Amino acid sequence: MLKKRCDTGLLVTFEGIEGVGKSTQTQLLKDALTAQGLPCYLTREPGGTDFGDRLRACLLQEYAHPLDAQTELCLLLAARRHHLQTVIRPKLAQGDIVIVDRFIDASLAYQGYGRGLSVELIERLHRELNLDLTPSITFLLDAPLEVSRERIKNRIFFDRIEREHNPFFINVRNGYLEIANNDPKRVHVLDACIQADLLAHTIFEKVTEIIYAQ
Ligand SMILES: Nc1ncnc2c1ncn2[C@@H]1O[C@H](COP(=O)(O)OP(=O)(O)OP(=O)(O)O)[C@@H](O)[C@H]1O
Ligand SMILES: [Mg+2]
Repeated sequence: MLKKRCDTGLLVTFEGIEGVGKSTQTQLLKDALTAQGLPCYLTREPGGTDFGDRLRACLLQEYAHPLDAQTELCLLLAARRHHLQTVIRPKLAQGDIVIVDRFIDASLAYQGYGRGLSVELIERLHRELNLDLTPSITFLLDAPLEVSRERIKNRIFFDRIEREHNPFFINVRNGYLEIANNDPKRVHVLDACIQADLLAHTIFEKVTEIIYAQ
């Protein structure tokens, strides 16, 4: 389990397999917090910086170039380090609420449980490379694979990950649930099948609870 907690600002992350509603909920949370006059910044991984977005494009869009799991992980970590140094840590240091669409848990779920790399190795790399910033709260949007596939089926372009087969996503989903089970105080598992506005309400309540308890 990753240890370090952010000491200023608030780091809120969203996780879950494809199409469960991360982009929808991160935007709704940002809008709700902004409406309350709270300083907040929405970003995503991989990406979140120009450099990170270029790595994201290599990773996800250039699927014609096969990448092994280790190379995939190295690119993700490079993007994360840059994102942490240039965006996430500075924003937290000025007291912002930083909302991230996928973060460290995604590397554990996709490259660890999904690709089969050692979860311990991925955690160790995060510690050694000073990437082990634990979110204040994480929302794991969970839905069965059929729901995930149904929600993304009309997309024109399927990226490197979205082209994977069902067993991969089953492992990723189970990995996410195991991560949540190991860290229940931080990771809140939400049923992604319930109405988006009801989910948004639950998420907003939880986040404001933490803000006002600080
Ligand atoms: N609670 C919900 N109930 C029904 N449909 C939803 C819900 N939340 C989002 N959707 C719809 O599902 C689709 C995928 O949502 P969204 O893009 O937010 O998922 P995502 O987790 O960000 O996907 P990705 O992992 O590919 O980035 C969209 O068409 C969105 O409108
Ligand atoms: Mg999204």
